[in-house]
Amino acid sequence: MRPFQFRPLVIVFLGLAFITIGCRSKSALTAEQAEGKHLYDVRCAHCHEDNDEGLKKVPPNLHGIFDHSTLPSGLPATDQIVEREVLSGRGMMPPFEGRFTDQQMAALLAYLHTGMR
Ligand code: HEC
Repeated sequence: MRPFQFRPLVIVFLGLAFITIGCRSKSALTAEQAEGKHLYDVRCAHCHEDNDEGLKKVPPNLHGIFDHSTLPSGLPATDQIVEREVLSGRGMMPPFEGRFTDQQMAALLAYLHTGMR
């Protein structure tokens, strides 16, 4: 009987491991960022990714929002201003006042700071 072919399996396994690690290092989010992503997916994405309400003023793309010094409105792109904009709303964006705990807001900002990959 032929000996069990072990080496090819090891090579395949190592290959898969590298691919997995490679992908994770690019997209791994911290627990806080992951919580923010969940909040974004549930509360913001339907407008900001899909514009599912067909708003005439298309909600701006929030990817890389902190890469610029100003927000689409021209206000400074800082945590405080973004938080205020989200809590008080702007134009067709509803106010989220009272809808997020401080911890959730911090998570949301942490996720926006990833540039959302
Ligand atoms: C009902 C659709 C809708 C939802 C839901 C929504 N937005 Fe918006 N958002 C908009 C629109 C429309 C604008 C553009 C407002 C304007 O300039 O008149 C906007 C603008 C913004 C801006 C830019 C503000 C500025 O000063 O330029 C930020 C940041 C933002 N939204 C973040 C969020 C976040 C974070 C969430 C989720 C918590 C969210 N939005 C949910 C529609 C939405």
